[in-house]
Amino acid sequence: MTRTPLMAGNWKSNLNHVEATGLVQKLAWTLQDKRWDAEKSEVVVFPPFTDLRTVQTLIDGDKLKLLLGAQDVSTHDGGAHTGEISAKMLAKLGCRYVIVGHSERRTDLGETNADVQAKAVRALVEDIIPVICVGEGLQTREAGEQIPFVLEQVGGSINGLKPDDIARSVIAYEPVWAIGTGKVATPEDAQEVCGAIRRYLAEDFGNEVAEQVRVLYGGSVKSSNVVALMSQPDIDGCLVGGASLQVEEFAAIGRFYD
Ligand code: G3H
Repeated sequence: MTRTPLMAGNWKSNLNHVEATGLVQKLAWTLQDKRWDAEKSEVVVFPPFTDLRTVQTLIDGDKLKLLLGAQDVSTHDGGAHTGEISAKMLAKLGCRYVIVGHSERRTDLGETNADVQAKAVRALVEDIIPVICVGEGLQTREAGEQIPFVLEQVGGSINGLKPDDIARSVIAYEPVWAIGTGKVATPEDAQEVCGAIRRYLAEDFGNEVAEQVRVLYGGSVKSSNVVALMSQPDIDGCLVGGASLQVEEFAAIGRFYD
């Protein structure tokens, strides 16, 4: 089973629509200069909600091969839920992916595995691929309990999903202690957890499902460490924060192969 690598740029709460326009255009030109092949790595940008329309227009209008994703989605289908953005709205804007359960939302807003599961379900109904985030904090890592901790998050976040839906989902392993800190997990440490996630999926849903799921690593990914991370057998891509705001860096991450 060949899994197409996925390089996901999470812009978080950064940029306005003018800056977003500049970034996405420069990213597309730089990737073109580097002879990036979209069949060898999918490059997805995840702007804030307020920039989705602008970026979608550029991607569609200029026929760029970049893909679009959102940083969150409502657990509701629509209706009287002030401030919520539904999966239907995201689908209409051309979003192919949505991040659910990012550690910043789990920590800042108390999102639970059940919330994450509900968001993943909404996304899948609209044919949007959820990027389900999991990852342990420093204390858990220091206690050596990262694998059971992460597998419990995975289990809770995909509970009740149909095997076909799990197969097309993406799981992003992001150790919280590595996010925005410059402390990247070693490729071996990242592989240990990503491999455990795939084995867990194989045990519960069979090899065919487990071999299709793309497992990403996130946490201080840069052009200087992406190749080593991507050489691990169970790492199928990266979820990138800070470096996705730097055109040359993110283009090099997207063009990591060869
Ligand atoms: O969503 C992205 C991750 O939180 C990683 O962020 O690359 O700035 O460490 P970072």
